[in-house]
Amino acid sequence: MYITVVGIGYVGLITAVGLAILGHTVHGVDIDAQKIADLLNGPCPLYEKNVQKKINYLYAKKLLHFGTHYRRHDRIFFLTVGTPASQDGTIDLTPLYAAIDSIIAFVPNGALFLIKSTVPVGTSRKIVHYLREKNVCHAVVSNPEFLREGNALYDFLNPDRIVIGADNTHCTAILTKLYQPLLNKKIPFLLTDPTTAELIKQASNAFLANKIALLNELSDLCVQTKADLGALSLGIGLDKRIGEAYLKGGPGFGGSCLPKDIRSLSRSFHQYGIASHILPAVITANNHRFTYIVNRITAILGGIKNKIIALYGLTFKADTDDTRGSPSLSIIELLLAQKAIIHGYDPKTKYDLLTYNEKGSIKFFSNPEETLCEAEALIIATEWDMFQNIDFEKIKTKGMLKSNIIIDLRNILNKNLIQQQGFSYYCLGRDI
Ligand code: UGA
Repeated sequence: MYITVVGIGYVGLITAVGLAILGHTVHGVDIDAQKIADLLNGPCPLYEKNVQKKINYLYAKKLLHFGTHYRRHDRIFFLTVGTPASQDGTIDLTPLYAAIDSIIAFVPNGALFLIKSTVPVGTSRKIVHYLREKNVCHAVVSNPEFLREGNALYDFLNPDRIVIGADNTHCTAILTKLYQPLLNKKIPFLLTDPTTAELIKQASNAFLANKIALLNELSDLCVQTKADLGALSLGIGLDKRIGEAYLKGGPGFGGSCLPKDIRSLSRSFHQYGIASHILPAVITANNHRFTYIVNRITAILGGIKNKIIALYGLTFKADTDDTRGSPSLSIIELLLAQKAIIHGYDPKTKYDLLTYNEKGSIKFFSNPEETLCEAEALIIATEWDMFQNIDFEKIKTKGMLKSNIIIDLRNILNKNLIQQQGFSYYCLGRDI
């Protein structure tokens, strides 16, 4: 099938690559000419495992193209443009409507619009009215994405379910054909109405955020009661009704999706005149976590004013170069506000994209060992595999870390080994 993907950000790129892998001929369109040039000339402007290799392969097979304009025969449009949120959860749908306007100005009636961008509940039906008002006739289907950054291509090709929110059976038939290679793998195909499909997306992220926030709160109780956080997560997760995923303690959930979707969903409750008590509490608990962690770091170090603190991991989690909504950055801001001096390191972050209130007190390094120079403590904030492979024996022997304090906010290091090597090791659920 010929498919157009509109908006080549994170979701758009993975969707385009994924659909081409399924055997469709995909044309990715973005209004940003520079982005398209970067994609065409390589390397891929965003970091995601295996994607560059796949793009090269799909280009060669002529299954994937990128450009700034639609093509004459384009009829099926995946809309994957960004839907930015303000602090109160209001979602800015201007880019989505701008994309729709650009399509309807170009194609004759009878196109299919698939909404993949995460939108507030009720948006697809509003788009249907919008099209009617414009006197054009196109079908609108909600087909939310459930891609985790860092595992996105895998998630696209091996989803837990495909959700289709459609009001007519003709659209359902097209989508059945489009996703047939995945349906052959017996992946559940949930057909529902557009409003429910939109709600499934945001409610899923809200559930995940809930799980993480509750586990993090329990982690604080583990510190006080000397209970074992790892065994607690396992013990809860082995209950099949709960499940093992999203029960890892950490510095709080971040990224551009979980925090945004909770705020947006909470706002939808408000707009429909009902109250959500749980969603605002999850947001509050997560925000409070950053302050709690900085207070603990301050207590461990006996004050942080003018002390150098090394921090590994600036992205919102491992295996991505995305720092949007990163807990590391919130923690750094709070440390800087207390006059700590930060040495930051991350294997993928583009440092020049970061902005800070107190620029003078933060310095970024291209090498994890150099980052430790003169530092009182090392904080590990994301779970990159490479942090587990760092030669801590050498760091200790060469006296690279001044006070030999390691604070592990993801519990990725081997406590016994690191203590044997002579470090004071502080981890989540035991000391923090
Ligand atoms: C999330 C959802 O997992 C995807 O299904 C969804 O499609 C996507 O949002 C979206 O709406 O586009 P993502 O934001 O890439 O994906 O990140 P996650 O892997 O879900 O992690 C979110 C945050 O939770 C990260 O800060 C991560 O470190 C944290 N986390 C996750 C924990 O602290 N503990 C866990 O056990 C799991």
